[in-house]
Amino acid sequence: MEAILLVGGQGTRLRPLTISTPKPLLPTAGVPFLAHQLARARAAGVDRIVFATSYRAEMFEAAFGTRAHGVDLVYLTEDEPLGTGGAIRNAARGLTCGPDDPVLILNGDILSGHDVQAQVAAHEKAGAAATLHLTPVDDPSRFGCVPTDADGRVTAFLEKTPHPVTDQINAGCYVFRRSAIDAIPAEEVVSVERETFPEMIASGAVVMGYVEPGYWLDVGTPEAFVQGSRDLVEGRLASSAIPGEPGERLELDGARVSPGAVVRDGTTVGRGASVEAGATVLGSVLLDEAHVEEGATVRDSVVGRHARVGPGAVLDGVVLGDGAVVGPGNELRGGLRVWPGVELPATALRFSTDA
Ligand code: GDD
Ligand code: MG
Repeated sequence: MEAILLVGGQGTRLRPLTISTPKPLLPTAGVPFLAHQLARARAAGVDRIVFATSYRAEMFEAAFGTRAHGVDLVYLTEDEPLGTGGAIRNAARGLTCGPDDPVLILNGDILSGHDVQAQVAAHEKAGAAATLHLTPVDDPSRFGCVPTDADGRVTAFLEKTPHPVTDQINAGCYVFRRSAIDAIPAEEVVSVERETFPEMIASGAVVMGYVEPGYWLDVGTPEAFVQGSRDLVEGRLASSAIPGEPGERLELDGARVSPGAVVRDGTTVGRGASVEAGATVLGSVLLDEAHVEEGATVRDSVVGRHARVGPGAVLDGVVLGDGAVVGPGNELRGGLRVWPGVELPATALRFSTDA
């Protein structure tokens, strides 16, 4: 089966991490985020993937080349972002399958443990034009709200509605009949959520919901990104792409953790990164060459490449950009983001939030 991977978004909510690296390539449990999706797609029977790229397009091919995780890879770039529907239509130029064949389409920022083969089987059984993976969430207003009838047929698609009619949302993994993709207008900006799905439903096309609760996460915010990495390291979502066994932490090549440090709760310690004696690092991502010095505390945070957390400093729910330095005694909390290269002198900040 062939698949299209949507990876053209700017990932603005993940800045400053996404200034230098697109969201789908951020190191997650030791490998680029997409490696987990490629491995799972391969396991579900996908043998060829077309990347729909836009923002920093060249970095994707540099990361994965023409074959990775047992899947052949093709790249198609939009000169101007075409939106999710326009990107799908543009990427279809790279498909080789016939008009009635199923094509898997994946948002590039999702971690999901659902059974893709069962979704494809449900699609074929219903003879559907498209079949969407749906999952229940606590706050459906942040997603595409997708009600279904007693037969599982989708009755509406309400993107980011303030008045959700169900807690069942679009989980960002579709099976499309190839001919339904070719019906999307070419070379135009089109939203699959706001235009294509509502139009398909209005025209009477069979659009089905495949409901499967279970592990599901959109890693589009720093909090969710850290959580996804933690869940992979701890084995809450299995991934054959992780360079190691599930456990309380993942140490990459050249990482140094002092015997006198506490590093757990799914923390990743990047290549050449270090944690000194007396430091505590919980549920965090230390990127390559990041350094946590004596007695510092880092919790639920991302420490960028070559960034440094000084002795006794505290980070809690913080994103520290590449090369940033937090001097001794600072205490940063509550979603604070420190831009790359910024240096905070000793005890410059005791407490802050991004309210
Ligand atoms: N190639 C390309 N071009 N890709 C794009 C473009 C574009 O113009 N715009 C967005 N994408 C990609 C993003 O990179 C991402 O992988 C995917 O399309 C979805 O975009 P997001 O920006 O992450 O959307 P969202 O998270 O707000 O909402 C979407 O995902 C939710 C589930 O996580 C929608 O599909 C919702 O309906 C859904 O519930
Ligand atoms: Mg998203």
